[in-house]
Formats: sequence, structure tokens, C-alpha cells
Amino acid sequence: MAEQKVNGEVIAVLPNKVKIKIDDLNAFKGAEQLKVGSYIQIADNDNSDIKLIAIIESFLIEVTEGGERKYLIEANPLGTIEDGVFRRGGDSIALPPKEATTASKEDIKAIYSSGSNESNYERFCFAQLSHSSKERIDVPVNGNRFFNKHFAIVGSTGSGKSHTTAKVLQNATQERKSDFKGLNNSHIIIFDIHSEYNSAFPESNSITINDLILPYWLLNGDELEELFLESGDNNNYNQSSLLRTLITENKIYKNPSESKVYFDSPLKFDIDEILNCFQNLRKETKHTENDLDIQFSDGNKIFKSDSEKYQHYFKKTYEFASPRRASKDAGHGISKGAFSDGSIDKFVSRLNTKVDSQRLRQFLFGDKSKNISFEETLRQFLGYGYDNENRKNAKSNVIIVDLSGVPFEVLSITVSLISRLLFDYSYYYKKQVGDNDMPLLLVYEEAHKYVPKSNLARFKSSRSSIERIAKEGRKYGISLAIISQRPSELSETIFSQCNNFIAMRLTNPDDQNYVKRLLPDSLGSVTDILPSLQSGEALLIGEATVMPSIILVDRCDNEPSSNDIPYLEKWKEEWFENVDFKGITKSWKD
Ligand SMILES: Nc1ncnc2c1ncn2[C@@H]1O[C@H](COP(=O)(O)OP(=O)(O)O)[C@@H](O)[C@H]1O
Ligand SMILES: [Mg+2]
Repeated sequence: MAEQKVNGEVIAVLPNKVKIKIDDLNAFKGAEQLKVGSYIQIADNDNSDIKLIAIIESFLIEVTEGGERKYLIEANPLGTIEDGVFRRGGDSIALPPKEATTASKEDIKAIYSSGSNESNYERFCFAQLSHSSKERIDVPVNGNRFFNKHFAIVGSTGSGKSHTTAKVLQNATQERKSDFKGLNNSHIIIFDIHSEYNSAFPESNSITINDLILPYWLLNGDELEELFLESGDNNNYNQSSLLRTLITENKIYKNPSESKVYFDSPLKFDIDEILNCFQNLRKETKHTENDLDIQFSDGNKIFKSDSEKYQHYFKKTYEFASPRRASKDAGHGISKGAFSDGSIDKFVSRLNTKVDSQRLRQFLFGDKSKNISFEETLRQFLGYGYDNENRKNAKSNVIIVDLSGVPFEVLSITVSLISRLLFDYSYYYKKQVGDNDMPLLLVYEEAHKYVPKSNLARFKSSRSSIERIAKEGRKYGISLAIISQRPSELSETIFSQCNNFIAMRLTNPDDQNYVKRLLPDSLGSVTDILPSLQSGEALLIGEATVMPSIILVDRCDNEPSSNDIPYLEKWKEEWFENVDFKGITKSWKD
């Protein structure tokens, strides 16, 4: 291959920048190959075996008084290459440098393969170098670092995020250490908000709203509050503490063989019994002088303790005697109970509405949720499901949690509960067994929807569950893939914990700035390229890559389904007669 000389003269070497002047662009034939994002190499003055590799940041064209054009390239030093081995950083070449040329294909290839000399390097490839004209140059990442240290894929709609996600995960499920048959040991859980990924993973275990079973009894305090309490209600503290007390009491009552029962023990409680108890508490009346002497309409009952009273209240709802003053004729006075002053009425009616809602009963409060065991719940999300009619593919590398049918009001707690269970699972796995033999990857599509930057109470639980994984998950073998078209609306905690980024075309200036701010400073204006990337192109940065690269992601095998409706195609068809208004309005109301 003919080496193309830039005949570039290095005119400045700054800590993070080299400036190169090209006098005669015509003398350099491959000028069109010199793009922002492509590589330049600069020869050392002393040792011709050492070359500095830099990535082009910008071009300037200077027109001199005589009308002559001079070209100025600003590039960002990435590292040195010596005897075909690339070393990051180390921009110490002997000054003055000799000359700059475009980096040769051999050198670039050497750089990407030199990673394999590092200890523990697990080569994982899903893309090639963009800009490289004819011959493909693989851009591998260190697969261990890539998956272990959380990664983010950001880009505007249509930039290729879903395809990239699909490609990365498809390759991960296809990797094999030896030529064994059957599944490899990858464990990927995709939170799929638009039902896009089923088509990309035909072998996956897809959990839709119709077969999702979410045990309400595993919800934690934050999740329960998010579900049942009206945010901003002054009474929230009291209501929440009463709710916790009753749940704890009911867990004790329902699990007599357990010696230690706490509010958040993963033990069953009965939500309908809790509701009974609340209904009774908001109506109860008592002997004016004895809080435990309860005045039912068919006679009084004196309880030994609050616990005993609650146990009685769990069973059903009762009628109570009306309040009255003490008098000679009537006898002792009857007054309202501590909670029957109207202060919990709104809360109880809210609780009632939720628990009775047809839609929520289907997967959260119904019999299936009451009966599923803790173990089955975990198996459901880990691809170790039992073979029965509900679970088509019992074993699966990819579990798709299809959130498209989950009512908006419980989206956050759904994501929170599943994420938290998987984190706790990994935590106890490590505690019990030692290092995780089955590390998990949790993939959040449209992550800004459940891990937003804003402090909205509505997303408090999903945000805190996912942030905890971002901060601590690595130790326990549980890591994150965060996909978002609005990175600037994403929790900063999450984003700053990501060590690898695939930044695709980004057109919104807020998002561009946000992404630039989070990327290493030294990268300077390379990030200016973000708005002009093609679909499928991305800036790949992070610990898992040898150097920042503009990549073109490979096409995936099975594509995720697009959300784009082919309007004109549909409009061109004949008038559609059979609209099922009845069915549509019914599913709406239920
Ligand atoms: N690696 C790629 N090379 C070429 N085109 C791609 C690539 N990835 C995606 N595309 C195209 O870009 C479009 C948008 O992709 P998609 O993954 O749905 O984007 P997003 O999820 O960011 O909205 C699709 O039509 C797809 O065919
Ligand atoms: Mg998408």
C-alpha cells in the first residue's frame, strides 16, 4: 500500500494538542481521508521507531496575503506506538518532532490489536473503524472492562441506539470459550419500554404484562410510598409509618414460623387484609377511657395489645357503635379511635382504588402475585424459569421485560422492584457463594424515563434502585447499560459511573454539551463531531478501548423492530372499515 505523506510540519506541541501545518495540500493525495476523527502520526526526532499517534480535532484554512492557502490541523495526542505496540498517554517524544503523516493502516491495526498483549484482555468486537475507506479495520474493546464497568449509549432518535444495543448483546450471547453447544453463560435483562427487542432476540424469554408476576409483598418502603401516598400530603409521615406498622404486623401474623420478621423481610403479607385493617381503623370507636376496649356495633371487645387488635382487624371489616357522651343512662362514653378523625380517609380510599384496580390486580395485587414464591420471582427474571405454559423458554440468555403495557403510574416501581431484586440477588450470591459465576447485565432503554435527573417523587424509587447498582453493582457482578436519547435529562450519578460511552449522533445542543462535559477533558473538540455522525456511527470512548475512535457499528443479525409507522404506505391503502372501537375503549377502561 502506498504511504501517503502529508508533508506536514509540526509547528506547536502543547500538552493536549499538536498543531501541524500543511503547505501544499496537492502534494497530499488522500486529503479527503483527513477528517475530524482520523489519525495522524508524528515521527520522533531521535528514534524513528517511536511515533506519536494523534486524533484530528479540527482543520483551519489560512489564506495568506499572496492568496496562498495553508492548512492547519489541530490534533489530540493519544499515545505512542513503538515496535508496533501502542501505549496510551506518553506524549513525550523528542523535540522537535520530525514530520507528520496520516497514520498508516498497519499502524492503526497494530494499535487495535496491541491491546491483546495486555493481561486479561478479552477482545470483543462489534464495530469497525469508520472513515477507513476500503479495508475493514476492526475496533475491538476489552470485553471484560466493557461489560463490567457500565456503559452508556446515547444519541438522538434515529441515530442507531437500538440497533447498536441489539448488536452488542447479540455478539455477547454468541461468544463461546470452547466449541460447546447450547447457551453460553451470559445473563442480560432488557427493560424494553417500546416492545422493540423481541424481534432482535427470537430466543429470548419475553415477559409482557400478560405473564409478568410482580409480588407486591416484595415492595420496599419507598416503592410502597410512591404507590400509595399522594406526594406533598402533609400527613404522609403518619400514614407511611402506620402502613409500615401494619405490614410488619401482617408479616408476623402470616409467617408464624419465622423468628425474625422486619418490615422489609422478603416475606408474604396480604394486601387485602391490610386494607381491611385500614377500613376498620378509620371507623373504629372505643371506650373513652380505654384505647383497647373497642366498641363494635354488636358488643365491645377488649384487646390485650395493638397487635392483637390488628390481627382481629385483618380478618374483615366491622361495624362500630356510634360515639356518645358518658351518662347515667347510657353508661361509659364512646369516642372515636386514633385514626377515625378523617385523617386517613383519603389515603385509605386511594389504597382501595389501587388494590382493587383491575389492571393492577392482573400482575401486582392478584392471586398470582400472592402465590408466587420468592424463588420463582427471581427465576422469572434470571432466565432460570420453570418450564410451564407461562414460561415458554425456561432457560434464556436474554430476558426482555416488556414494559409497554405496564400502567404509567406503576412503571417506576416495576422497574425499581425488578432492579432491586436483581441487585440483592447478586449481593447475597456473593455473600453466600463468593464471586458471581453468572454476572448480570441490566439494560435500560430510554433510561431518562426512569432515572431522571429531576427530583420528582414519582421516580424516586426506580432512580434510587438503579443508582445503587451504578455505585455498587460492579463488586457483585451486576452492571448497567444505559440507553438514552436525552442524556441531559438523565441522573448525573448514573452517567458519571459509566466508564464506556458510545456517543452516536446528537443534535440537541443541551445534550451535546452535557455529554461533552462528562467525557474526558483531553478529548477537546473531537466531540464536536457528534451532530454530524451518520446512523450507526459513533464516538467510542472509555476504559475498554485502546483509544477514542469513530466507529461504524456492524449491522445486527435480527433487527429490533422499528417504531416508525409507514404513514404514506398505510394511507395509500383502502379505507379501513373494521375499527374495533368497543375493544379499544374496553382495554382503555380496564
Ligand atoms: N450500524 C448501522 N449502520 C447503518 N445504519 C444503521 C446502523 N444502525 C442503525 N442504522 C439505521 O438507523 C436507523 C435508526 O436506528 P435505531 O437503532 O432505531 O435508532 P434509535 O434507537 O437511536 O432511534 C434504522 O433505520 C437503522 O436501519
Ligand atoms: Mg431506539
